[in-house]
Amino acid sequence: MADPTRAWHDEHMYFNRMLAMLQKEMDVLATGESPHYGLMLDIISYLREYSDVVHHPREDEVFRRLSLLRPDYKLRVARLRQEHRVIAVAGETLRKLLEEAGADAMVSRAEIEIAAATFLVYYGNHIQTEEEDILPLAAKLLTHADWAAAKAMAPSAHDPVFGAKPTQRFSELRRRIAAEAG
Ligand SMILES: [Fe+2]
Ligand SMILES: [Fe+2]
Repeated sequence: MADPTRAWHDEHMYFNRMLAMLQKEMDVLATGESPHYGLMLDIISYLREYSDVVHHPREDEVFRRLSLLRPDYKLRVARLRQEHRVIAVAGETLRKLLEEAGADAMVSRAEIEIAAATFLVYYGNHIQTEEEDILPLAAKLLTHADWAAAKAMAPSAHDPVFGAKPTQRFSELRRRIAAEAG
């Protein structure tokens, strides 16, 4: 098995890139210009479909196993699991707003700003906490069996943007990522 914490860390870097791209569009909105709502919707859809459905359930199992080995981490991982639920709801709120904005429905900029700012700050802090507090500990304590059990929480996982077979639907997002990477 490839180094599981390496793959885990790589996904965090992908998500951070998505959050940075979302922030850039928010900066466009802040200057009074029109952001690329379609791109923002792709970003949030990707995070809803991959992070919430694959990455977070796997982490939840890692957290559960870690807290059995380290009861002193129980509260910390309970908070992170709670954050997964909050991220999912905040993400869905933002996704709906962006969908409406993209369809030319009347959506106030303030509503989008509030939803996106909340999502960005919350998600960014969440990833940072996992990177600093949890990954190093998990790398030390968990066994192959633990990692296999975590992976099995989303067995047919397929990353539609950064995976080996990206889906056509996210081609514009991939084009942007490639352009940014230069
Ligand atoms: Fe997480
Ligand atoms: Fe994570």
